[in-house]
Amino acid sequence: MATRLVRRAISRVPTLSPAARTILCRAHATEAQAQQVELKAKPTHTPKTFQIYRWNPDSPQKPELQNYEIDLKNCGPMVLDALIKIKNEIDPTLTFRRSCREGICGSCAMNIDGRNGLACLTKIPSSGGPSMITPLPHMFVIKDLVVDMTNFYNQYKSIEPWLKRKNPPENPGKEVLQSKEDRKKLDGMYECILCACCSTSCPSYWWNPESYLGPAALLHANRWIMDSRDEYTKERLEAVDDEFKLYRCHTILNCAKACPKGLNPGQQIQNIKKLELAN
Ligand code: SF4
Ligand code: SF4
Ligand code: FES
Repeated sequence: MATRLVRRAISRVPTLSPAARTILCRAHATEAQAQQVELKAKPTHTPKTFQIYRWNPDSPQKPELQNYEIDLKNCGPMVLDALIKIKNEIDPTLTFRRSCREGICGSCAMNIDGRNGLACLTKIPSSGGPSMITPLPHMFVIKDLVVDMTNFYNQYKSIEPWLKRKNPPENPGKEVLQSKEDRKKLDGMYECILCACCSTSCPSYWWNPESYLGPAALLHANRWIMDSRDEYTKERLEAVDDEFKLYRCHTILNCAKACPKGLNPGQQIQNIKKLELAN
């Protein structure tokens, strides 16, 4: 149809010689044929296998990797899209956490092909091979990809992540103000979404998950230590000045590699250690 239209258009150009018209028509026809061949050659189906960790506490079976094949042509681009597709269309028993699907809530953290990350921000790997999806490492599994975050949240709670004051605000009932420069000191920390990708990729945290606070909780400890409005800086530094709570960090920096928000918890831990020397 398009070729016919082009031919008609070419035949109406008065300045073209008959020979030039023939060459133009042939060139267009060849291009159209090539496009058709290309369309026919494109696969209509792009299969992709996901090997997903399965474990059900109500079943006597041991944990196993289960294979699911989906057609990527009918799936969104992210790993979370694939998981939702599998759950909706193949296996409704597959269990995982998710909420915002845009890297804000931190609930879809898992290990994807050996790296911790957020399923909603991780593109489905384009390689033809299967992709392996397992829960965050070294965490107790509740079911399938859902891990127990109790210890992680308790550690976060232990650093008292809220503004603490000894004196009432200068203007009672009003906000405690902060200069732009002081506000800037919180950059690289306030963005944390508590997904636990960093802590669960930290070898020190793997070996001492109960006594070492881990990169996420320590990043938040530093966030409040650095807040100009907080009046408990000294006490906060004393609270984490502990061989296990703080000094299990050996600056391996796996945490920075794992953070899906591009934060560097290891650097914040270094800052606490520096301040401890002066405290
Ligand atoms: S820098 Fe510290 S917190 Fe980060 S991975 Fe290494 S040991 Fe863990
Ligand atoms: S620092 Fe990064 S990886 Fe760690 S909990 Fe916060 S957002 Fe997640
Ligand atoms: S679903 Fe909220 S961060 Fe992925």
